[in-house]
Amino acid sequence: MEIRSHADNDALSQAAARLFQVQLTANPGLVVGLPTGGTPLGFYRQVVERQLDLSHSTAFNLDEYVGLSPDHPQSYASYMRENLLRHLPVGAWHIPNGQAADLEAECQRYEAAISAAGGLDLVFLGIGHNGHIGFNEPGTPLDARTRVVRLTETTRAANARFFPSPAEVPTQAISMGIKTILSARQVVLLASGRGKAEALLAAVTGPVTPAVPASALQTHPNVVVLVDAAAARLLPVA
Ligand code: F6R
Repeated sequence: MEIRSHADNDALSQAAARLFQVQLTANPGLVVGLPTGGTPLGFYRQVVERQLDLSHSTAFNLDEYVGLSPDHPQSYASYMRENLLRHLPVGAWHIPNGQAADLEAECQRYEAAISAAGGLDLVFLGIGHNGHIGFNEPGTPLDARTRVVRLTETTRAANARFFPSPAEVPTQAISMGIKTILSARQVVLLASGRGKAEALLAAVTGPVTPAVPASALQTHPNVVVLVDAAAARLLPVA
């Protein structure tokens, strides 16, 4: 794991967008995994500001809530339209269908679509307060592929800020599994803010354990961790 420290979310977002730009220049047909949530908002702003050329690339979102229609304002499909897709053409864009009649079949379809695209070249991740990546909550087997997951109360509480009321946060999601994420050729983890410090510390210095899903990234040969000073406050100084 290569840890790169930045002053704040703005600097971290710029670094992430630069890294994305370099990879897109080398391979315009990049297959990329994309996160949602608060952390990458600045990253998407930078991607749009720099008008990165995603017109030949294929994007797969990490996750989507079960039960929300793509038009629901809090769906991750809406998030992506609002923060990226309405600003920039993307060659092909995929997100799990959280309203599929057969959710198991939808997970298999999603995983197959990633394989059919040639696998993920690059995946950007955020990290949950509990160390989750995607919606792989603590206890997730490290060899899991895309599947339906039950959100922990910690995660539902953390995401309640995006919903009119906490009760409206869905209880389930479809998420790429840890094995799906680890199959990417490069992984870029974005960790920003004081609230992520404990999870980040455990992920990068603790044992590799299902109790801290992000710790599985230690087993990947090409991981870049972009941190801001607030998230890095507990990390040993190099
Ligand atoms: C969202 C996702 C999650 C978030 C994580 C951090 O697509 O996969 O793992 O990255 O919950 O969310 P924020 O950035 O809102 O703190």
